[in-house]
Amino acid sequence: MARNRYDVDEVLEDSFDISQLKRLAGYIKPYKKQMTLVIVLMLSASALTMLIPIFFQRIMDFSIPEKDMNSVFLYCGLTFLIALYSAFSLRTKIKHMSVIGQNIVHDLRADIFCHLQKLPFSYYDDRPHGKIQVRVVNYVNSLSDLLSNGIVNTFTDLCNLIFILIFMFIEDVRLTLICLCGLPLLAAVIVFIKRRQRRAWQIQSNKQSNLNAYIAESINGIRVTQSFVREQENTGIFNRLSGNYRSAWMRAVKFNFVLWPSIDIISTLTISFVYVLGIRWILAPSSTLTTGVLIAFTAYISRFWQPINTLAGFYNSLLTAISYLERIFETIDEPVLVKDAPNAALMPPIKGEVRFENVSFSYEEGHKILDSINFTAREGETFAIVGPTGAGKTTIVNLISRFYNVDSGRILIDGTDIAGVTLHSLRTQMGIMMQDSFIFAGTIMDNIRYGNMEATDEEVITAAKTVCAHDFIMEMENGYYTEVNERGTRLSAGQRQLISFARALLASPRILILDEATSSIDTETELLLQKGLNRLLEGRTSFIIAHRLSTIKSADCIMYVDRGAILEKGNHEELMRQKGEYYRLYMSQYDFLSPAKA
Ligand SMILES: Nc1ncnc2c1ncn2[C@@H]1O[C@H](COP(=O)(O)OP(=O)(O)O)[C@@H](O)[C@H]1O
Ligand SMILES: [Mg+2]
Repeated sequence: MARNRYDVDEVLEDSFDISQLKRLAGYIKPYKKQMTLVIVLMLSASALTMLIPIFFQRIMDFSIPEKDMNSVFLYCGLTFLIALYSAFSLRTKIKHMSVIGQNIVHDLRADIFCHLQKLPFSYYDDRPHGKIQVRVVNYVNSLSDLLSNGIVNTFTDLCNLIFILIFMFIEDVRLTLICLCGLPLLAAVIVFIKRRQRRAWQIQSNKQSNLNAYIAESINGIRVTQSFVREQENTGIFNRLSGNYRSAWMRAVKFNFVLWPSIDIISTLTISFVYVLGIRWILAPSSTLTTGVLIAFTAYISRFWQPINTLAGFYNSLLTAISYLERIFETIDEPVLVKDAPNAALMPPIKGEVRFENVSFSYEEGHKILDSINFTAREGETFAIVGPTGAGKTTIVNLISRFYNVDSGRILIDGTDIAGVTLHSLRTQMGIMMQDSFIFAGTIMDNIRYGNMEATDEEVITAAKTVCAHDFIMEMENGYYTEVNERGTRLSAGQRQLISFARALLASPRILILDEATSSIDTETELLLQKGLNRLLEGRTSFIIAHRLSTIKSADCIMYVDRGAILEKGNHEELMRQKGEYYRLYMSQYDFLSPAKA
């Protein structure tokens, strides 16, 4: 599969998928009551507002000719009351809808985040983190306006339009028909731009995603960038991506420049026709049309185009929203490939026998990394895996924790196929220290406790002592309560390893996995650590991957792998006697270390 990089666009959905909106409606449902209240208030306010032109018509046609000041006061008073009621409805709308909008955005974001927590390593292997981030943050945020005001406004505007039409028909049928002639023209404009505008918004969201991916990558890689003096090139790439985003955005909004002026022209055109014809009809000898009616009618007609304007605006944000919704729901729908089987059992308390039976595995289809591997680690054994870089060592241990599914074959722990047990019951019995140990922002205490949230401070400290981390931790300004930042940049690589090591131990696992756990630790500390560890590892199965062979010399079993195949297996003495790959590797390290040869 091609990797989705920052300079590769994501695939665009072709057809306008209305079901996205239906799904969105599901998020709105919990707030139905409040939204109905707001809509009822807004509708009643706008229905009442419709009466105002009628009041003025009556003032023109009756109050003024009859010099009836009382009715003028009455109509003006009513107008004021209606304005008060409208203001109250508007206030209620703003109050409720901004909260509802944010709630829906929160629910949506929580769903994506929750799903992301479950997605397997393979999902993250395949895409830049920036492209995932942009969905959770930017895309979801962009929906907030649509959700808070868009929906209610659209609903009230649609009803307004109907009200206005009714009142217009009551006032004068002929003038109303003239006004309606503008609609087919508008429909033609919308049909013309619809597809193009939707595509333009999709492209815009893609470019935003690319830009985000690149920014995230650059921040993560800043140290490498500066060491290789690549700042200028990076700025160049950034300018290109940001420029692409800018042009995509401009191309998308360009369609608004077509839509809004079209509405303006069409509305002015119809209003002019209404004036010209209306005045002609008033001046005709046997006219039934009065000046008051014409004035009231023109008041309605300007209100008629106002909701159409907002509806067009809504349509535009809907197109943008759909291009974001597609991505958001795509993430939520991303299948969780590594998950509990339908009737998964609980993994019984692990004794510690791990068996690989004809296990084959590939990260990418057609590119086998492990080819039909068989081996057994016995209960309580220290099992070392050695081999050149890229041989498949990390892959093997990742499969034991079921971070990936095997292509074929089985992995059995105490005879139970791990594919048939819940991930939770499996992983909580393992202590895993990955090759690239991650440190979270927080105290050192919290970072170690990550391995077992129930552990007491004393237990944390004991674990740290076991891995010889206690001394350096105590030397820091606040000891265990020293704050470290994300990725632990203020710690040395070796210190980070020791902390992750303590974290893995704290889980008091039945199976311990140490992937190059001590590669950045000095030999002296490692020797000390080894002693503490030997006591601790008694009775537990542990998998140790290490390049420094002194670390694993005493392992019960050493497996030499290369290119996804097991070449040799046995304890140190047996492998040395074989004089094969392990022997060669050991001798090369020995040669290198031996002062006699230096
Ligand atoms: N996430 C991944 N996606 C695709 N290929 C991978 C991935 N991780 C590792 N590989 C490939 O699998 C092979 C074995 O990798 P790994 O198990 O990490 O080796 P090592 O023995 O150094 O730990 C390597 O060729 C590597 O390129
Ligand atoms: Mg590795």
